[in-house]
Amino acid sequence: MPQPLIGIVGLGYVGLPLVRAFVSCGASVIGFDVDQRKVDSLQQGKSYIRHLDSSWLQVAIESKTFRPTHDMSRLE
Ligand SMILES: NC(=O)c1ccc[n+]([C@@H]2O[C@H](COP(=O)([O-])OP(=O)(O)OC[C@H]3O[C@@H](n4cnc5c(N)ncnc54)[C@H](O)[C@@H]3O)[C@@H](O)[C@H]2O)c1
Repeated sequence: MPQPLIGIVGLGYVGLPLVRAFVSCGASVIGFDVDQRKVDSLQQGKSYIRHLDSSWLQVAIESKTFRPTHDMSRLE
């Protein structure tokens, strides 16, 4: 079965745990946010949500199963 590709718009208190849930199920996720600082932080594997540790994030970024972006044209 092909790996599903999920798009999540808004990478805050709701969106980021959703990213983790989908990635942990084996999906690939493109995450969209208008806040460049958040996108930059996520691309460096750093979580800005205190209760959400960064270990899963670093693995997801390195493996490209989670790709954060502010480029909304990628929604297509
Ligand atoms: N946190 C909760 O418990 C909760 C509960 C019920 C409903 N909600 C609703 O869920 C939504 C998200 O809540 P949250 O707590 O994750 O907020 P949040 O502020 O933590 O995250 C929202 C994220 O969306 C980004 N964003 C804003 N406009 C955008 C746009 N046009 N395109 C892409 N990204 C955009 C922001 O930069 C931010 O990172 C809100 O509408 C909120 O009212 C939240």
